[in-house]
Amino acid sequence: MRLLGIIGGSGLAQYPGLEITEQKQVETPYGEPSAAIKMGTLNGKKVAFLPRHGDRHSIPPHRINYRANIHALKVIGVTDILAVAAVGGITDKYAPGVLSVPDQIIDYTHSREQSFFSERFRADNHIDFTWPYDAELRQTLLSAATDAGLSVNDGATYAAVQGPRLETAAEIRRLERDGCDLVGMTGMPEACLAREAELRYATLAIVANWAAGKTENVLTMTEIQQTLANGIDDVKSIIAHVIER
Ligand code: HPA
Repeated sequence: MRLLGIIGGSGLAQYPGLEITEQKQVETPYGEPSAAIKMGTLNGKKVAFLPRHGDRHSIPPHRINYRANIHALKVIGVTDILAVAAVGGITDKYAPGVLSVPDQIIDYTHSREQSFFSERFRADNHIDFTWPYDAELRQTLLSAATDAGLSVNDGATYAAVQGPRLETAAEIRRLERDGCDLVGMTGMPEACLAREAELRYATLAIVANWAAGKTENVLTMTEIQQTLANGIDDVKSIIAHVIER
């Protein structure tokens, strides 16, 4: 039996339409997850939902207990994680409002606990991470978008940055030279921990803003939040079709 876990990011701290049947406060060897996991039904199908930044969006990206979150989802029986992520758009195709299912990651984060094997390491604990997202779950997301009549960019390189501040223009130019299309603060170590935990993991990214230096405008959180609010119905519609598949 597969169980879908949805990790909600900025703009998705609550999941409107999710009928919550139980809140599971999971204790883990790594400390507390961001919030109680909401077990519920979406269009009649059982799902688990976890708001990455906490119920009131009070945990910044560099303070999220990624290990506790992934461990908690695993122990309650989640097999597949769909991570929703707000990102900045770096390359031309990634204008605000665009949806993307990335296929690569470059990790620029630091000082985050990024392995379940830190305390007990064995020689075979080096996971393969050539393709950081699960190929099948990516395909399911892309097909679900087609079913929903929505266009989604297939394949992008996600730059995971430390935050919580936004980037400088020069940092974004560097990320672009490195081949990154999108920039966000929470994609790592979430993705590699999911792989270590043998969970299928894919990201549905929504571009909230042009990355720093890509427009003349100063980035404002009001604009970013407005773009996310406008896009969240599309995200939910894709998730509804994922559940049907
Ligand atoms: N940079 C980093 N993370 C983000 C951005 C950004 O411009 N927008 C949304 N998350």
